[in-house]
Amino acid sequence: MMSNSRASRAVLFAVLYLFVSASALARVGHQIADKSGQSGSAQAASAPATSAPSAEASKYVGAETCKTCHEEIYNAWEKTPHWKTTLNIKGGPSKQGCEGCHGPGADHVAGGGDKTKIFVFEGKSRQETSARCLSCHGEAHEQSHFAESAHSSSDVGCLDCHSPHHAKEKEFLLVQEQPQLCYGCHTSAKADFAKPYHHRVNEGLVQCNDCHNPHGTGTVRQLRSLPSGDAVCYKCHVDKQGPFVYEHVPVKTEGCTSCHSPHGSTNPKLLNVMPVNMLCLQCHTFSTQLTAGGPIGPAHNQSAKYQACTMCHTQIHGSNFSDVFFK
Ligand code: HEC
Ligand code: HEC
Ligand code: HEC
Ligand code: HEC
Ligand code: HEC
Ligand code: HEC
Ligand code: HEC
Ligand code: HEC
Ligand code: HEC
Ligand code: HEC
Repeated sequence: MMSNSRASRAVLFAVLYLFVSASALARVGHQIADKSGQSGSAQAASAPATSAPSAEASKYVGAETCKTCHEEIYNAWEKTPHWKTTLNIKGGPSKQGCEGCHGPGADHVAGGGDKTKIFVFEGKSRQETSARCLSCHGEAHEQSHFAESAHSSSDVGCLDCHSPHHAKEKEFLLVQEQPQLCYGCHTSAKADFAKPYHHRVNEGLVQCNDCHNPHGTGTVRQLRSLPSGDAVCYKCHVDKQGPFVYEHVPVKTEGCTSCHSPHGSTNPKLLNVMPVNMLCLQCHTFSTQLTAGGPIGPAHNQSAKYQACTMCHTQIHGSNFSDVFFK
């Protein structure tokens, strides 16, 4: 991994050491001259990061220094989106480059690569590693619910799905392609999507990510919702959203899953229950009396003619013309 010979490394080391101490000296002078002392952020914004006037900053050496010994890792890393952090002058050295994740590296370098003097991810708890990532990503819209997600509470961390150095996928630094990544842990979802009728996730047309946010959401089952707060299903099935003059109540109150299994089903319309009359009769009863909690009707009997309910009640998601959803 390290191409330098022992001797050249020693030389390099001496140079680095001189550089680090010289800049530390310069910084002390700078701090004395700067009466306000604490105005770190204003300074950091205008001056190069290495001369930020805090003692903390002197613990950072910058990614170029890491490169001198970890060249292979650096070269691969440079091609990932995290390279952009080196340009984050405003964030300061603690948000830049290798040290944005591994923490300050000066002691590690001074110790000739002492592993105990730098943050090593291997062997750390998921809570601790995820917290590192969240120090930058925690405010982002997509990741902001991670702490209260089903994943986080079940001890699934960022590194179960992502790897900054050893990603298998070009996009999003994923350790495995989708949906296999998810199926590895979610075998029942895998079985559902293998049913004859399913959203075409395996075929690449729809993604788990279209309906769920693996980083968690404010709602149950890590489901996404539209900005309006409505169910995610309307994103693609706009025609079901209405509003309708005559709403079929459960569509709005209990949601799509009161009738559909969105992952997959043996029913072509992804219904939870077959045949369709059995689905309707889970809620409806043959009566003109209002039963406890249930809707009225149908008054018609269950002769064969009436069993295919949606033959007549075609606009089952709601209608603007018919209070019994005929058209
Ligand atoms: C986005 C956070 C992040 C950044 C930035 C980062 N690392 Fe890492 N590093 C990790 C994680 C996480 C691991 C554990 C292995 C993995 O999951 O890829 C790791 C592992 C390592 C290892 C152990 C060996 C290995 O290949 O796993 C070395 C050495 C290392 N990083 C050096 C560096 C250097 C040098 C840089 C800058 C060029 C850097 N890292 C930038 C997060 C980061
Ligand atoms: C003077 C050379 C040198 C420099 C500069 C250097 N390292 Fe290292 N680093 C090493 C050596 C040597 C090891 C130990 C490898 C081992 O013991 O397997 C090491 C180990 C590591 C490890 C642990 C790898 C593991 O196997 O778990 C990480 C993480 C790491 N370095 C990150 C960094 C980062 C980040 C920087 C820049 C801030 C940096 N290193 C700069 C020489 C260096
Ligand atoms: C259960 C798996 C999983 C976990 C755990 C996970 N991610 Fe992700 N992450 C993904 C997938 C899948 C994508 C790609 C989404 C897509 O296809 O649009 C992604 C995308 C991202 C992206 C880029 C796109 C975006 O939407 O922001 C970032 C940044 C990210 N994840 C950070 C994190 C961080 C930080 C953590 C830990 C706090 C984390 N992820 C935990 C699966 C996961
Ligand atoms: C120092 C801040 C910082 C830390 C710490 C950090 N990231 Fe990032 N991450 C970024 C930036 C900046 C981007 C690029 C965003 C962009 O392209 O707009 C990024 C991008 C990503 C992406 C998207 C990659 C893509 O292909 O679009 C993923 C995934 C990701 N980070 C995961 C992680 C994980 C996992 C960790 C913890 C091991 C982590 N990050 C730690 C700053 C950070
Ligand atoms: C490392 C294992 C692992 C991976 C990989 C993983 N999950 Fe999970 N996931 C879990 C665990 C554990 C839970 C919590 C227990 C449960 O509900 O199954 C969970 C919960 C969930 C939930 C919430 C379920 C509920 O009942 O609230 C959803 C949705 C989910 N995962 C989707 C995904 C998606 C999408 C992916 C792929 C991007 C993914 N998971 C990858 C382990 C994983
Ligand atoms: C078309 C939207 C949609 C897609 C695509 C989707 N899900 Fe779901 N998923 C849902 C809904 C809605 C629920 C809630 C079902 C309920 O509460 O009855 C759910 C529930 C879950 C649950 C909770 C347990 C369960 O089975 O009810 C897990 C885990 C899960 N999904 C994982 C995944 C994974 C993994 C993928 C991709 C392989 C995926 N989902 C794709 C909509 C979707
Ligand atoms: C990302 C877009 C997308 C989202 C989000 C989505 N669907 Fe779909 N849905 C489709 C597509 C595309 C089809 C067409 C089926 C096919 O050919 O694969 C479909 C088909 C269906 C079907 C079967 C219709 C038929 O005639 O084949 C039902 C029922 C359905 N979706 C319900 C839902 C429910 C319920 C949700 C929310 C949990 C949802 N969909 C979310 C894209 C989506
Ligand atoms: C009260 C039960 C019920 C609810 C709630 C429900 N559906 Fe349906 N849906 C059905 C039935 C029954 C069919 C089959 C109609 C047929 O066979 O003509 C169907 C068919 C569909 C179809 C395919 C045929 C078409 O009309 O495009 C889609 C897509 C669909 N539903 C999406 C949704 C979405 C999205 C929601 C939530 C907004 C939802 N459904 C809520 C009962 C329901
Ligand atoms: C999850 C429970 C549920 C399911 C399943 C369900 N419905 Fe309903 N339905 C309701 C409720 C609640 C009402 C509103 C009743 C009221 O306002 O008195 C309603 C109203 C109706 C109405 C209008 C009745 C009126 O008097 O205005 C018709 C027609 C209807 N449903 C047909 C069906 C058919 C056909 C199916 C099967 C495809 C079905 N429903 C499945 C709960 C359900
Ligand atoms: C052959 C056509 C047809 C079929 C099939 C059919 N219905 Fe109806 N349904 C009607 C008619 C006609 C009405 C009365 C409409 C009116 O009052 O204007 C009605 C009314 C209803 C009502 C409103 C309450 C009432 O009785 O006035 C409900 C609820 C209902 N049907 C549910 C169902 C269910 C559930 C099924 C399947 C088991 C079903 N229907 C099958 C034609 C049909």
